[in-house]
Amino acid sequence: MDKIRIIGGKELRGNVEISGAKNAALPAMAATLLTPENVWLENLPYVRDIMTTRALLESMGAHVETLENETMMFKAAGIGELEAPYELVKTMRASVLVLGPMLARFKKARVSLPGGCAIGARPINLHLQGLEKMGAKCDVSHGYVEASTAGLHGAYIQFDTVTVTGTENLMMAAVLAGGETMLDNAACEPEVENLADMLRAMGARIEGDGTRTIRIRGVKKLKGCRHRIIPDRIEAGTFAIAAAITRGDIEIANCNPKHLASVLSQLSLVGVEISIGETGFRVRGHADISSKNVTTYPYPAFPTDMQAQYMALMTRGDGTSIITETIFENRFMHALELIRMGADITVEGRQAIVHGGRPLTGANVQASDLRASASLVLAGLAAEGETIIDRVYHLDRGYVRIEEKLAGLGAEIERIS
Ligand code: EPZ
Repeated sequence: MDKIRIIGGKELRGNVEISGAKNAALPAMAATLLTPENVWLENLPYVRDIMTTRALLESMGAHVETLENETMMFKAAGIGELEAPYELVKTMRASVLVLGPMLARFKKARVSLPGGCAIGARPINLHLQGLEKMGAKCDVSHGYVEASTAGLHGAYIQFDTVTVTGTENLMMAAVLAGGETMLDNAACEPEVENLADMLRAMGARIEGDGTRTIRIRGVKKLKGCRHRIIPDRIEAGTFAIAAAITRGDIEIANCNPKHLASVLSQLSLVGVEISIGETGFRVRGHADISSKNVTTYPYPAFPTDMQAQYMALMTRGDGTSIITETIFENRFMHALELIRMGADITVEGRQAIVHGGRPLTGANVQASDLRASASLVLAGLAAEGETIIDRVYHLDRGYVRIEEKLAGLGAEIERIS
């Protein structure tokens, strides 16, 4: 099992290129099931979750080819296996995204229940309720969802909670349904809009993506397309905090600053100098860090996927900050490991109180989930001495070659196999 070793204290300087967004690539790969024609996806991030999704599609009979420049070609013409098996789904909950497309095109699907993960129970009740409103029958037994339909029809679906993959799954179900579907209280994340762009390129009729109300008018069939995955706003935010926490100066290229506006404004608030460009932004962390509260909410507010990284930064703050996590019920696992590095953090339910000003010292720490791992890397970059992070397979799920990119910025970091 790989580990990452960091000697902290180096100021990071230079230019880093952001990769494609994992959370845009996963629904896009599921959407290739909606047509028997060729689909090219460009700017894919070659991380574990992408390889897992490729394996899932191939296990169903899809043909997938890796081409140059982070492009893959998909052809879901010979789909014979309408099942997403437990062995694959248990390693990646987003496999549930094949449910909508499979029902839309094949009227049948057997998908393992994802089960919980470190950050929470992660139910899919809203996905299933929406599909049932569209005429699917969803039985849950033996850890699987057995879904079938005589043919999906349009429906009015109102989400009690904003759900990103719930919105994406039902968008993909609706594009081939008979009639019109309205998704209310829908997720507005850029990844949802990127999926809608892809579906429109395939001939779908969708409007309102990026707002809380999405309207989809079903069509008879969809064609192939060539689609580009948007840059990863969470990777960009993670590198912005790497500059801030090491008092460095980093040019973050190949990303859309508008997609992480709430993160950049929070960083400016705490004293980080940000200059915005068209296809990137520059982050200078030379000033002291002020302790400022933050609460996570659905997009466009401060994202839960940046909460752990922000907590690492707040350990450098000049006072006390309160971090409130409203999306997931157990997303403070990184706090325990940061405490082992000398941070002064108290977790009370959905809130973490961070007292800044104490130096971080390197330690042996353990990653528990994707963004917690990123938080420990950031803390290791700022800590005095050596940090060894165990279980970095969590990190590899969502970050492309993070240790190479950080080393390219001057970090003393290496992977120990
Ligand atoms: C997506 O997960 C992302 N994953 C997550 O990123 C991200 O943290 C999350 O959205 C929130 O932004 C992908 O896009 C692949 P949700 P998702 O459904 O869709 C509750 C990362 O680090 N809920 O928006 O699974 C749920 O329990 C990952 O890259 C229900 O109650 O999250 C949570 O409290 C982690 N019933 C809230 O909604 C449902 O049917 C938001 O979850 C669905 C969700």
